[in-house]
Amino acid sequence: MPIGIDALSFYSPAYFLDLKNLAVARNVDPDKYIVGIGQERMSLSPPDEDVVTMGASAARRILARDGTEGIELLLFATETGVDQSKAGALFVHGLLDLPKRCRGVELKQACYSGTAALQLATAWVARNPGKRALIIASDIARYDLRSPGECTQGAGAIALIVSETPRLLVIDPPSGYVAEDVMDFWRPNYREEALVDGPYSTRVYLHTLTLAWQQYAALSKLGYRDHHRFCYHLPFTRIAMKAQSRLARECGEPIPSEEDLKRLIGDSLMYNRITGNTYTASLYESLSALLDTSIVSLDGLRVGLFSYGSGCMGEFFSGTVQPGYRSHLFAEEHRQMLDARTELTLGQYEDIFNLMIPRDGEDHLFAQYRTGPFRLSGISQHKRVYEELFSVAK
Ligand code: HMG
Repeated sequence: MPIGIDALSFYSPAYFLDLKNLAVARNVDPDKYIVGIGQERMSLSPPDEDVVTMGASAARRILARDGTEGIELLLFATETGVDQSKAGALFVHGLLDLPKRCRGVELKQACYSGTAALQLATAWVARNPGKRALIIASDIARYDLRSPGECTQGAGAIALIVSETPRLLVIDPPSGYVAEDVMDFWRPNYREEALVDGPYSTRVYLHTLTLAWQQYAALSKLGYRDHHRFCYHLPFTRIAMKAQSRLARECGEPIPSEEDLKRLIGDSLMYNRITGNTYTASLYESLSALLDTSIVSLDGLRVGLFSYGSGCMGEFFSGTVQPGYRSHLFAEEHRQMLDARTELTLGQYEDIFNLMIPRDGEDHLFAQYRTGPFRLSGISQHKRVYEELFSVAK
């Protein structure tokens, strides 16, 4: 039974910071961010947006088109959870008015848990033919102000429907996955900002890629050239170039030229370059960019995907793009959403960064910023209060 991704929607908050302005403020050559790191802008979530509103906004676009019937599994992947106990899935279940018969949980393993959700969902669909799983991956990447990680922040969410009639991508069964207990990036419960050993994290990412690939290649009997495009977890886009070169070397292939890189990964970098790291959503944002922006039809082509989550988990797997996929994308909606973002000044960015959710248990109403169909309107007696503004994601 071909199981895979039937629908894919990406949501970015409506604000961004131009990294040229960040570079000037931090006394860094802008080319370091734009060329060396490969990032131009980062999406910023306003105080009345969180992983729940972003995830619900991503999913609303799909559900408004395809309905909620048969969705009996809701997996919410995040490392920016809003509650230590209640799953983000349950907040979203209410906002989206999903069927009562639905299993909802939150999954965590740094940026990897979106992929754990996808693989768990494919197995669940095999066991429950005709049913659909909704996966949401939603995150806000935060590092300390003035730290090396600051330029790799970002925010966004993706929603995927997994079914046995996938209109976008059939997920191939073979997969290579690797777990290792390392401290390359982590966020203790008492911190809002992640801690990271940046150069070490990059080395572990690339090492894990080779281990995951070796397993995948042995199981699938597929080689480098059997893959027409590649999508990577993108903490910053430059890492995809390093990853592609590492994979080519591992496979005894020539180091990819600029032209090869453009063909193999160029389209997949288009969104992440202007949103920044979206942690759990990042790999699927990259897939969304590839499907949305490729001028060449990808009908029937195989895409290799590498998911990485610090700590760490890595997985290499692949999927085959379904003929006619283009008529089922939200490419135009994604383009309009990204084009309509509002630029913030450095001062506005820092002000928003420093705002924290009040912890006093009193009633607080939050100022209204530009958001998707849902917003976090306040907090009352330690309970988050969400509000629906309009019915379809723009
Ligand atoms: P850094 O120390 O600021 O930068 O950290 P650098 O000195 O290593 O420079 C970066 C690149 O810019 C270098 O190129 C420089 O040569 C180049 P490279 O040697 O790498 O090819 N450069 C310039 N290029 C053009 N013009 C110039 C110029 N100056 C320098 N003028 C780092 C960079 C990415 C480490 C930092 O931003 C960081 O710590 N980021 C956060 C951690 C991270 O993203 N790690 C990635 C792997 S871990 C991962 O993916 C998991 C994660 O998503 C979390 C999760 O799983 O939940 C992060």
